[in-house]
Amino acid sequence: MKKVLVIGSGAREHTLAQTFLRSEAVDTVIVAPGNDGMTDPGLRRESIAVTDLIGLRDLALLEAVDLTFVGNEEPLTLGIVDLFQSSGISIFGPSKVAAQLEGSKSFTKNLLQKYAIPTAQSVTVNSLDTAMAVLQKFGLPIVFKLDGLALGKGVTILTNELEAKNYLNDLYVQDANATLVIEEYLDGVEFSIFSLVGKNGVVTHAPLAQDHKRRYDEDKGPNTGGMGAYSPVNWLSEEIKARAISELVLPTIDAMAQEGTPFTGVLYTGVMLTKEGPKVIEFNVRFGDPEAQVVLPQYTGDFYELVTQLLAGNQIHPSWQKKYVYVGVVLAAAGYPGNPKKGAIVPTITDVSPLTINYAGVKSGKANGGRVVTIVAHDVNATLAQKRVYRTIENLDTALQYRHDIAYQAVQHENS
Ligand code: AMP
Ligand code: GLY
Repeated sequence: MKKVLVIGSGAREHTLAQTFLRSEAVDTVIVAPGNDGMTDPGLRRESIAVTDLIGLRDLALLEAVDLTFVGNEEPLTLGIVDLFQSSGISIFGPSKVAAQLEGSKSFTKNLLQKYAIPTAQSVTVNSLDTAMAVLQKFGLPIVFKLDGLALGKGVTILTNELEAKNYLNDLYVQDANATLVIEEYLDGVEFSIFSLVGKNGVVTHAPLAQDHKRRYDEDKGPNTGGMGAYSPVNWLSEEIKARAISELVLPTIDAMAQEGTPFTGVLYTGVMLTKEGPKVIEFNVRFGDPEAQVVLPQYTGDFYELVTQLLAGNQIHPSWQKKYVYVGVVLAAAGYPGNPKKGAIVPTITDVSPLTINYAGVKSGKANGGRVVTIVAHDVNATLAQKRVYRTIENLDTALQYRHDIAYQAVQHENS
């Protein structure tokens, strides 16, 4: 039997572990560091931080794990894949250079421009004067992106000229040579494509997903890591999906190979569907959280088999379900995202049969961080799946907080 190591601690890593445990070949999944909510049979935790690459490698060697799957971006941009490979350990994810698709906005924009892959026009600047000139050229609204791993906080969109000038003045007072990507604003609807990319360009694309980044209903309030998601996105046509794959995703995978830095792992393409067609908003090099929680339950084949075949560059026979819509709602600590309050009791969910439950910030049965649990239900359409998930949540006695409208676009589409 096979042993898998999943790296990360959130609900995304919980669903990854559950997905591997559904494989008949797998009897043990170790999650490092995981969280106290992860108690599934066959799942074990080791408290090693995601940034302790040497500790993780030693664990993988000691446990003789057959496959390692990295949930979050930090270890990838630090080079965990290169380190594991140099020790002969099988790991699914991009090399440090390829992880720049998420880690460096300027790397990504240069690549997209060089290969003429549709994206927002942009210029990378290093001084206040050039930044001001680009602002004049692009007009408003304007998008500023700081280079480097931003954890969702690096993007600022401004609609007012004075605010935009103040932003630039403040930035260059702090650091006279700051690297800033300035982008034209793209108007449209957003969705995400998750592609599992193997060697030799072997790839499978999961059903499309849509996240809800704002904290409150009707997309109000501050940006968060994601308050809920659903998949598939029923209001997008197969034609749009096919176009986004053939015009954005596949050319990027080819471009990385041509550059001598082939991409292996999960490529998360954030797409804006504009009047001129789909354009790249961003790439990430791992599954989204909470998108993973609604995407991975849809894999009906053997996920361990899929990932090992991808790593070998062999032909694959992926199978994603087509009958149901999955809706996932995040329960978060009060005060999230600004100042999440610790200590709320994490509710026990007993009626789990049609649901999947993925824990995140849980310590000794109490909330220990921002997002605490994702509850996912599926049904034959989004309207019914949404009803099902909220019926469960409303019956819980909990101080945790959540949005009440996850999947509203899909529900509106079904009822229009
Ligand atoms: P990013 O970190 O690049 O994904 O950006 C975070 C969010 O900012 C995206 O999910 C979009 O909603 C928004 N955004 C980023 N770039 C643009 C753009 N060029 N035009 C409009 N919205 C954008
Ligand atoms: N849900 C968005 C992300 O994982 O980046």
